[in-house]
Amino acid sequence: MEYQTFFLVLSCLFPFIVYAFTISNRRNSRLPPGPKGFPIIGNVFEFGDKPHQSLAILSKRYGPLMSLKLGSRTTIVISSPDISKEFFHTHDLSFLNRSAPKAIQVGDFHKYSIVWMEAGDQWRKLRRMTNEYLFCVQQLDASEFLRRVKVQELVNHVNQCCREEKALNIGECAFTTSLNILSNFMFSMDLAQYDPKSTQEFQDLVLQVMQAGAKPGLPDLFPILQSLDPLELIWPENVYAKKMVNIFDKIINERLKTRSTTVSDGVSTEKNDVLDLLLNQKSNITQNDMRHLFLTLFVAGTDTTSSTLEWAMAELMRNPEKMKKARLEVDKVMQNNTNGVIQESDISQLTYLQAVIKETLRLHPPAPFLIPREAIHDVVVQGFIVPKNSQILCNVWAMGRDPNIWSDPEMFMPERFLDVKVDYRGQDFKLIPFGAGRRMCPGLNLANRMLHIILGSLIHKLDWTVVGNKRPQDIDMGEKFGITLQKAEPLIAIPMKL
Ligand code: HEM
Repeated sequence: MEYQTFFLVLSCLFPFIVYAFTISNRRNSRLPPGPKGFPIIGNVFEFGDKPHQSLAILSKRYGPLMSLKLGSRTTIVISSPDISKEFFHTHDLSFLNRSAPKAIQVGDFHKYSIVWMEAGDQWRKLRRMTNEYLFCVQQLDASEFLRRVKVQELVNHVNQCCREEKALNIGECAFTTSLNILSNFMFSMDLAQYDPKSTQEFQDLVLQVMQAGAKPGLPDLFPILQSLDPLELIWPENVYAKKMVNIFDKIINERLKTRSTTVSDGVSTEKNDVLDLLLNQKSNITQNDMRHLFLTLFVAGTDTTSSTLEWAMAELMRNPEKMKKARLEVDKVMQNNTNGVIQESDISQLTYLQAVIKETLRLHPPAPFLIPREAIHDVVVQGFIVPKNSQILCNVWAMGRDPNIWSDPEMFMPERFLDVKVDYRGQDFKLIPFGAGRRMCPGLNLANRMLHIILGSLIHKLDWTVVGNKRPQDIDMGEKFGITLQKAEPLIAIPMKL
């Protein structure tokens, strides 16, 4: 376009530009308070490499309902139970969508994954199916024996390390156990091994998807770049996630083949695992739905569980008197049990262990911002506008350490949960590590069982010392921000039989 024509067009558009600017300013003035950002990049630098911590500091200045710009994207940060309740209870329907990172959108995972898809009919159908076939009490009770077998294998591995006085990486062991519990629940097979020398293809893929997905890319900061993204082809999680999907395809196809031969032989070899249950619902769910559902469940369910267990063990080891209290309770409940694995029916008697898990999730929520939601339309909250398409981060990490909510918030004190009835099932907004409302974690019941039986079995008649003869209080509790909030330094310890 010639310069003259360009300026002519611009001068004609000038009144409209001024109008749009005024409207946008007026709207901005009704946004929740927040730090002023730089043009174009907004408040990107204020996020830092531990955004849960930097936003906790900022919210002390601007309040529990804060707005900032992440690139060109309006981001709303919630840091109090009352405001969380307004978002995830009063206005839950308006915030049911997710804000999917660009990395997820490439490869169309946001269209097929229950975690990221729009809250439409397909999402409702998948939520119903996961509740009915995967996480309902009957299904979890029916699959209890399988989790016991997998925890028994962990106990055997730990016992062997005791005999050899060998150190083990607690997070890695918990990860292997969680992964095998899920893979046996879904396909009746192991997909991970404790022996680091054995093939770890699947285990590594899950970790690579998690690690790659944790890094925000430029198009996340500047949505306008999404249409021009030249990097589209090299998003690493795209490659890893596709590899995982191919593995699931192979497993599904093999099962279909076995099922068709057993039908012709007339002998049923149905395993009654999740894959069989879903294949029996074929009219309701396609193979594409299934493979994406498996991908999502492995990514959402393994690292969250294992990092919680690693933090719980680190806190107990740093606080030997709390470790002793938890162990005595477990040993007492298990005195007639010879195999060293807690039964799920024992969990209700383990009140101190339950308090340990709650306290761990208060201090170390694996998803410190939950999983970002998105406003479906403009919503007025506490007199401020939360604009359509803005991204919602709920800083549960900051809420867990807020002295106005918890006394001595930095201290690990499971006792605080013994007298008060606070639970993490989405009703008590001061403790919502699994989220709240219609989009809260559907895997909560499974996670709850896994966390208690694995942690209980790791401390039953066992004590642990950190490698390098470190004193308990010297255990490093630094954090690494990623898709889940992990321990920066892995917890490596030697088990001892008591
Ligand atoms: C300690 C363990 C876990 C924690 C702390 C956790 C936490 C969360 C959180 C914070 C959300 C977002 C909730 C919201 O937006 O309100 C979520 C969603 C989800 N979680 Fe979990 N989770 C855990 C374990 C699991 C397990 C074991 C599974 C399944 C095997 C699972 C499957 C999912 C799925 C599928 C979603 C997406 C739900 C949707 O968008 O509709 N999670 N989880």
